[in-house]
Amino acid sequence: MTNPLRSPDDRRLPRVAGPCSLVIFGVTGDLARKKVMPAIYDLANRGLLPPGFALVGFARRDWDKQDFAQIVHDSVREHSRTEFREDVWQQLAEGIRFVAGDLTSEESFDELRRVVDELDQTRGTRGNHGFYLSIPPSMFPVVIEQLKRSGLAQSTKDAWRRVVIEKPFGHDAKSARELNNVIAGVFPSGSVFRIDHYLGKETVQNMMAIRFANNLYEPIWNSNYVDHVQITMAEDIGIAGRAGYYDGIGAARDVIQNHLLQLVALTAMEEPTSLQADAVRIEKEKILASIKLPRDIEKHSARGQYAAGWQGGVEVRGYLQEEGINPYSTTETFAAVRLDIDNRRWAGVPFYVRTGKRLGRRVTEVAVVFKKVPRQLFSPSSTQELSNNAVVFRIQPDEGMTVRFGSKVPGTSLEVRDVSMDFAYGDSFTEASPEAYERLILDVLLGDPPLFPRHEEVNLQWQILDPILERWDKKGQPEQYASGGWGPQSAYDMMKRDGRMWRRP
Ligand code: BG6
Repeated sequence: MTNPLRSPDDRRLPRVAGPCSLVIFGVTGDLARKKVMPAIYDLANRGLLPPGFALVGFARRDWDKQDFAQIVHDSVREHSRTEFREDVWQQLAEGIRFVAGDLTSEESFDELRRVVDELDQTRGTRGNHGFYLSIPPSMFPVVIEQLKRSGLAQSTKDAWRRVVIEKPFGHDAKSARELNNVIAGVFPSGSVFRIDHYLGKETVQNMMAIRFANNLYEPIWNSNYVDHVQITMAEDIGIAGRAGYYDGIGAARDVIQNHLLQLVALTAMEEPTSLQADAVRIEKEKILASIKLPRDIEKHSARGQYAAGWQGGVEVRGYLQEEGINPYSTTETFAAVRLDIDNRRWAGVPFYVRTGKRLGRRVTEVAVVFKKVPRQLFSPSSTQELSNNAVVFRIQPDEGMTVRFGSKVPGTSLEVRDVSMDFAYGDSFTEASPEAYERLILDVLLGDPPLFPRHEEVNLQWQILDPILERWDKKGQPEQYASGGWGPQSAYDMMKRDGRMWRRP
């Protein structure tokens, strides 16, 4: 008799990937070194990769297999989450291969094909291969075309081929569509895995659990009770050596278009009919399609660029003085915008999103701020220190959730003051949270799609952003803001106009 607690879709059971390999293009880049390769080791260390797993690096370097293995080894030692174990490493190292090649060269891809075929013979990868494009997006079409030409993109009934791409998925709706057409011409949509690493974060996945596994929040999760929602993704770092990528892209394209709009959708969406990828996607798309921009974008948005200053006791450069940045660049490093969701649940409840580099501290949170009581029984003087109730999802770094409400101050006088009730992962669970990339790479190898945005979501996200960017493009230089602060004056002003204030995380 089958145990009902151990059904095949029992999500508590560790899910282990079947025989396969992952080919990484762009192994010399930051992303591969700091995130992708360490995550692969962490998966191996947790026993979630098949014994014959193979990792193939592809780059224009005069390396052999051993040189590449050393690169992987160093990146694992430096960046992996779990402890280093020699036996795990040895087993992983046996499956490491390297192709020294050029992304535009047919011979290089023919060589890759030979390597992949060899793995099927020697490591038992059975024709299952993923291709991780950790390369500049301008090279996506070239690689996709080469994969097709060399026959590497072709799945069969028994063997899968998948492609993994990292944002930015284009730089506006039009280019995203063009890119999608290129990919869709070679890989069927179920074989395309677009990474938005925020969706792999433990706390982001928990937003669905907290909203829909409980009965406490949904009844008040609407315009009857909610005053507004604030989503903040603040970073204390500058552009950290990524000038080539960042300049001309800016904060809105870099993180609002993807991470922050996904957080808006997860906060606002209706309960899906199931946890299947399509069911969740449909609900998210409905929110994205209902987002309306303010009529006067100028008044309800803000953009800024960090100026030189001091941060954490260290003198830091301004954006325009950063190495590799055009000294006249108009790229924004801070962006804030008000969005409205034009549906019955959220009519009249603004969603404010903001993000910036070189802000006061690193923090990402979603704060749902509630309306004040319709009638306050307690006198104005005794409620001076009572603000709006709030539910805050603390995405990082202090992962958890806070509920803020008023409580009587002990004593004989009558005063009501804000207090917080905190849930912290570290206090409630002994299990450690995996890195977003561990979860996402495992899902790619398992072919599990819920955490990967489909093209339609990406397209809707660009449709929200395009008019804002168009407006900003006409404005020239963004306002400067002090490093270590909380953004430009215009960000404070846009909230003040609405009679609200940004939270000070
Ligand atoms: C990336 C952005 O998507 O997210 C970076 O391109 C940003 O600019 C990074 O620094 C932040 O990720 P996390 O996981 O540290 O919040």
